[in-house]
Amino acid sequence: MTPFLHPAGSPRRGLHCEPNPVNATSAHPLPASIDDTLKLLSGADYLADRSLATVLFLALRMGRPLFLEGEAGVGKTEIAKVLAATLGRRLIRLQCYEGLDVASAVYEWNYAAQMIAIRLAEAEGSGDRDRLSEDVFSERFLIKRPLLQALEPDTAGAPVLLIDEIDRADEAFEAFLLEVLADFQVTIPELGTVRAAHPPVVVITSNRTREVHDALKRRCLYHWVGYPSAERELAIVHAKVPGIADRLSREVVHFVQVLRKEDLFKAPGVAETLDWASALSELDVVALDPATVSDTLGVLLKYQDDIARLEGTKAKEMLDQVRAELRAAE
Ligand SMILES: Nc1ncnc2c1ncn2[C@@H]1O[C@H](COP(=O)(O)OP(=O)(O)O)[C@@H](O)[C@H]1O
Ligand SMILES: [Mg+2]
Repeated sequence: MTPFLHPAGSPRRGLHCEPNPVNATSAHPLPASIDDTLKLLSGADYLADRSLATVLFLALRMGRPLFLEGEAGVGKTEIAKVLAATLGRRLIRLQCYEGLDVASAVYEWNYAAQMIAIRLAEAEGSGDRDRLSEDVFSERFLIKRPLLQALEPDTAGAPVLLIDEIDRADEAFEAFLLEVLADFQVTIPELGTVRAAHPPVVVITSNRTREVHDALKRRCLYHWVGYPSAERELAIVHAKVPGIADRLSREVVHFVQVLRKEDLFKAPGVAETLDWASALSELDVVALDPATVSDTLGVLLKYQDDIARLEGTKAKEMLDQVRAELRAAE
């Protein structure tokens, strides 16, 4: 078995965590088929379409990172959370942002604690400098950030590593990430190379505010997470907003589906549909009317230009259309 750490220097130095002998997949088995994957997700109220379940199943099977791209609020982050919960794995989340660096993503030395240890050693008169420098660069003084934590063994099996909104990080970080994902290892000059005995389940998301480099995508299995169909969105609303009036839920979903076809600056995601459904339910609304729609648009749309487009007669027109289409479908 591969040791967790291959010390660069003497065997004294190193991270003293041995990989757990439990096979990464034995605690909670990975889904055995696409249907199994769908069931696993729906067990945690995540209603995926078959194409997403297929690529997820394959990513788990092949041990490849899953790259999920799509508009905000379509359920990308939630997949990683649901996977961790249903597989009984630890969820490790790395939220990306501009300027994210190795110190925040991988590890950093605890300088304050190192300084205190050095001062104490000086006060005690223990003058062995080599010994001291070895001691302060030991695991005790290492602050492990998400990428390093994800390489550590876990009794429940390898963790789920969520690298969220990679499009917000700089390209330099993307290149670094590529290296980590290639071998699931990182090198800490003072300590050695840390390698995962069981690679984590990796989910990378992007809201596509910029294109992510081909090299990173090539390492992953890719899936574009689109808006759900009306049927699936209705099922999501029923799963997440229990007790909502049947008519209201159908009107809400249909209204949002029609709204997404408008030329908006930011179309509402599933998150907004759920918020709107909860808000209306909270207000004891049983069916949509133009005034309620206008008054609650801020739950659905977050840009003033988009809201202004819908206020007044437009909302009423859309509502009439929604009603007519629902009646025709009955
Ligand atoms: N297919 C789905 N099944 C159940 N809930 C969903 C689904 N898609 C989105 N959601 C819900 O929508 C909300 C937003 O999802 P999130 O994962 O944060 O979106 P994203 O990361 O794509 O911006 C969450 O509350 C999530 O539970
Ligand atoms: Mg997200």
